[in-house]
Amino acid sequence: MKRFDGKVVFITGASSGIGEALAIEFSARGATVAVGARREDRLSKLCERIVAGNGKALAVACDVTVDGDVEKAVERIKETFGGIDIVVANAGFGVVGRVDRLKLDDYRRQFETNIFGVLRTIQATAAEVKARKGSFALMGSVAAYVSSPGASPYQMSKAAVRSLGDALWGEMARDGVSVTTIQPGYVESEIRKLDNQGVLRPTAKDPIPRWLMMPADVAARKMVNAIGCRRREVVITGHGKVAVLIARHFPCLLAFALRRGAGTARTSKARKD
Ligand SMILES: NC(=O)c1ccc[n+]([C@@H]2O[C@H](COP(=O)([O-])OP(=O)(O)OC[C@H]3O[C@@H](n4cnc5c(N)ncnc54)[C@H](OP(=O)(O)O)[C@@H]3O)[C@@H](O)[C@H]2O)c1
Repeated sequence: MKRFDGKVVFITGASSGIGEALAIEFSARGATVAVGARREDRLSKLCERIVAGNGKALAVACDVTVDGDVEKAVERIKETFGGIDIVVANAGFGVVGRVDRLKLDDYRRQFETNIFGVLRTIQATAAEVKARKGSFALMGSVAAYVSSPGASPYQMSKAAVRSLGDALWGEMARDGVSVTTIQPGYVESEIRKLDNQGVLRPTAKDPIPRWLMMPADVAARKMVNAIGCRRREVVITGHGKVAVLIARHFPCLLAFALRRGAGTARTSKARKD
């Protein structure tokens, strides 16, 4: 199992779900972690947990939709730990609903976090990562390959992240920087309990059955392995791999399945469109 002793890892969206699990996994493998998100109380608790396990952690409050916020976080990380080796652009959420019922602003809100938030994170950290010949990891989704009815804003945003990851991989290669685009299927987290404004509805029921979801710690282990091996792309979860395989090689089969209503799960969840 690859170790990350002496490496500094910055993870956005680390106050819950996949980002939180990634912070714990990187720390368990010797990395120093800087965790970013808007909910500072959650970040502080995560840092306390990591420090209690003899790890090193720093909470940096930042909103990836606000110009300059990630830059401020990066300055704090540099002051505290001297630089950054690995950046995981993970912050994101999902806007769902039919195209003819959504407003343009719903799409703008989605892209501001899931696309421009990733871009802000990359641009604010590129100099640091290049200086250390480090790594970027971009959190995509199987949704980048499978566009089911009723979730176009989210799927469009993840398709953009996939393209961005491919381009960045080529651009950064000559600087000795690896770029891993991570495409998860269903993973346990809070994402399906957020409404279209990105507000957590704690009592909302996750529409995905538990048996289909990969625990976040298991997913994080696989993701960290892929980043450590400097892989270009990794698909996480068995059902995710099957979905991507079908999308790549049997698109007609996928289209048939989607028309039969396989894509209704996300829109049927208890949230306002
Ligand atoms: N779970 C899945 O099934 C799944 C599948 C495929 C892809 N993904 C992707 O995995 C990533 C993490 O999601 P998750 O499933 O772990 O969901 P989650 O539990 O809801 O976590 C999302 C994280 O993003 C942060 N975030 C959201 N908006 C932000 C903003 N404007 N600025 C900074 N941080 C922000 C949240 O923190 P604050 O609210 O505290 O800011 C939270 O820490 C997302 O990019 C998601 O699209 C998830």
